[in-house]
Amino acid sequence: MVLDPLPDTRKGTGRVKVIYDTDIGWMNDDCIAVIMALCSPDIELLGITPVMGNYDLKHEVACALRLLEVIGREDVPVCPGFDRPLLHERSRYADAMWGRWATFAADIDLPAGLPALEPDRRHACDFIIEAVRANPGEVTILAVGPLTNLAVAIRKAPDIVGLVRQVIIMGGGIGLYPGGWGNSTPLAEFNFWVDPEAARIVLRAPMPTVLVPINVCRKTRLPKGFVEAIAGSRSAKRGVADLFRTWTMPLFASTVRENHLSYGLYDSCVVGYALRPALFKSAELCVDVVTLPGPQYGMSVAYEAGERIVDDENIRFPIENPPPPVTVVHDVEFDGLVSLYLESVGVLASG
Ligand code: RIB
Ligand code: CA
Repeated sequence: MVLDPLPDTRKGTGRVKVIYDTDIGWMNDDCIAVIMALCSPDIELLGITPVMGNYDLKHEVACALRLLEVIGREDVPVCPGFDRPLLHERSRYADAMWGRWATFAADIDLPAGLPALEPDRRHACDFIIEAVRANPGEVTILAVGPLTNLAVAIRKAPDIVGLVRQVIIMGGGIGLYPGGWGNSTPLAEFNFWVDPEAARIVLRAPMPTVLVPINVCRKTRLPKGFVEAIAGSRSAKRGVADLFRTWTMPLFASTVRENHLSYGLYDSCVVGYALRPALFKSAELCVDVVTLPGPQYGMSVAYEAGERIVDDENIRFPIENPPPPVTVVHDVEFDGLVSLYLESVGVLASG
């Protein structure tokens, strides 16, 4: 289901109420994106809901809490979500790449030390339901990890589908556009591959949904100049310059990473879309997720809504039971996104 894009927050329409659903790690792209959301004067961050994905849930919860301490935002609740996908089992392959879900290490260690701050007692999916019901038509959910928390919230409280303002998701790879190949398997993007069943549930829920696929993220590798500008800034908001100076700048020391990091403002695209949708180009498409076991597990398939013309004789076939169309982002004005990030964290004055 597609609504008009959210109004540009620069036009004085008030702060966007946001829930940030994430597989955060210390200064990974989820972390860099939530710093933007926490610092932006145009976002009211209602809560952070970690979900396993890149890391074990316990590690992610600790990262989120420690980040809030470092930047002085202990007021934001962190509500732990699911520690494993709905069906997808751990495997040696998942462990060997980024998929450290359900590892349950007895002890955790964080580069910046463990937090003293405690997580909220509410489960992520209950927090999502509560916050959406308490603010009908106002909450934007930014989902930048596997979609397990959101899928279960929808199954538990289907009414939230009609109450949410917008859901903006980083996930999938769209073969209709350049750069749509997978990053976890040849066909599947990580967030969808970790929990394809959850992604399918969410994309089939009739709510205003925006999808930022891996195609777009691949255009956002972190430039050294961006990191230097934040690390050297005197005007950046509390703790932000130190974070980039201490944890991100050293990554450029290796020669292969001279000018750009291998990852980028992936999940920040989602925050950027919530703030300034005009920076992005998009199309309305139906997106489904393949849940059959095999090499296509977790692959996203996108097509235009309605019947398809299959040849010159105008033979059409119906696509049975298609998901509702969503807004699929296929391009970003990268310099604009970088400026928006720098404005949000106080490095640049807002234009
Ligand atoms: O495939 C990209 C996604 O997986 C991003 O959300 C990034 O954080 C990684 O975990
Ligand atoms: Ca992520």
